[in-house]
Amino acid sequence: MKTPLNRIGIVLAVLAVIVVAGLAGRHYWGMIGGTPEGGGASIGGPFVLVDEKGNTVTDADFRGRPLLVYFGYTYCPDVCPTTLTTIAEALDRLGDKGRDIAVLFITVDPERDLPEDVGDYARAFHPQVVGLTGTTEQVAAAARAYRVYFAKAAQNPDDPEDYAVDHSAYTYLMGRDGTFLAHFPHGVSPTDMAERIARLL
Ligand code: NI
Repeated sequence: MKTPLNRIGIVLAVLAVIVVAGLAGRHYWGMIGGTPEGGGASIGGPFVLVDEKGNTVTDADFRGRPLLVYFGYTYCPDVCPTTLTTIAEALDRLGDKGRDIAVLFITVDPERDLPEDVGDYARAFHPQVVGLTGTTEQVAAAARAYRVYFAKAAQNPDDPEDYAVDHSAYTYLMGRDGTFLAHFPHGVSPTDMAERIARLL
């Protein structure tokens, strides 16, 4: 009588481990934004930010338009300009199909990136790119909603205004209703980005 009961116990324990591991795995992938396309991942959501004219803007202001959302900062030496150039080229490839897409460039460096700065910077890449900033709290909340990591790094000891900001560099595609559709890693080609956007919209 003892052996079959033990065997059932072992089977149940193994099943429990599999279930827990599965749930942990899903949670982990969700945290790093690795959820599959269209999987209903909770990326995005409400935000309150400030546009180039100093006006308050929210996610609701863009409802009805597809969004490409990217977090960065205007002093970024490399990654941000590259990504914004890729986005601009993808928009050009999409032509009329991408005409109503709003690209949101949200700064993770609101201390230095004042409204006018982000506006000018964003528009220089493409007229459809909108530069947004906000208070430290507003920017942090928006970054949290999109699961974007950022942190001040490499500060010049002689000049507190001279620093770099580490930040994750995904571009998020959001549907007209504000739901997450896809993300693009840094280094994606404009052709691949345009093709995927065309397929998903
Ligand atoms: Ni950057």
